[in-house]
Amino acid sequence: MPRSPTLLRLWKDLVAGPDYPDDFYHISFITLPDLRHLARTLNLSPGSRFSDVACGMGGPALWIARDTRAHLFGVDLSPVAVAHADKRAQSLGLAAMADFSPGSFADTGLETASMDAAMSVDALQYAPDKAAALREFARILRPEGTLAFFAFELDPERARGLPVIGDDPVGDYRPPLHDAGFDVLQYDQTPNWHDRLFTAYRAVIDAQDALRREMGEPATAAILSEMTLTLDRDIYGGRVFALARRV
Ligand SMILES: C[S@@+](CC[C@H](N)C(=O)[O-])C[C@H]1O[C@@H](n2cnc3c(N)ncnc32)[C@H](O)[C@@H]1O
Repeated sequence: MPRSPTLLRLWKDLVAGPDYPDDFYHISFITLPDLRHLARTLNLSPGSRFSDVACGMGGPALWIARDTRAHLFGVDLSPVAVAHADKRAQSLGLAAMADFSPGSFADTGLETASMDAAMSVDALQYAPDKAAALREFARILRPEGTLAFFAFELDPERARGLPVIGDDPVGDYRPPLHDAGFDVLQYDQTPNWHDRLFTAYRAVIDAQDALRREMGEPATAAILSEMTLTLDRDIYGGRVFALARRV
């Protein structure tokens, strides 16, 4: 994404919106009002500790760290994303309040009961074992700690057999949240998610020649493959905002 002005422009115009701050760009569907809501619900204060699991290049969580003065521990499966997140924290003068490390939903590498809050944005659908991911959130949070996430619910029929996304196609995160030791305080569908996703993915697919020139073939092929498959199979049943408290 940092190599492609076209992808950045499409994402800003069609997904993030004109008011979303450029320095904190992302590859998810979060808007500035969503980000403000997320920051409020995480209930952070200066010096408290929070984790963003599947943080990608760190944009949304770094915005929240700057806004709340809480310390961020970002984790992502991709070492490339983690390196970008680190670089961004440094260039924004936020390095003293943010640590990024490689890790997965099932194994974040963070200490037990070490976090006051945890978040994730549009990534939980990729966890190959959702129950293990939610148990890991419960493990790293202190008692009464807050978990808030945006995530796509999968349609089990339509996701069946697909790589990664078909491994554990959860259509409702409430039962596994409960089983992992959370009280679910809020669980809402986000408005207009289907139109926003289809419009953005179609525009990116249409811009594939520019993407190939800017990002090269492997990155373009990867993004086109996921987007084409998502549209053709219409794999998502919903996109939710969930707020839960560890009991
Ligand atoms: C759609 S991006 C969202 C990134 C970021 N949350 C944002 O808002 O820009 C999904 C992210 O999930 C990460 N991811 C996928 N599977 C994962 C896993 N099993 N554990 C941790 N991260 C994972 C990817 O590397 C990618 O950065």
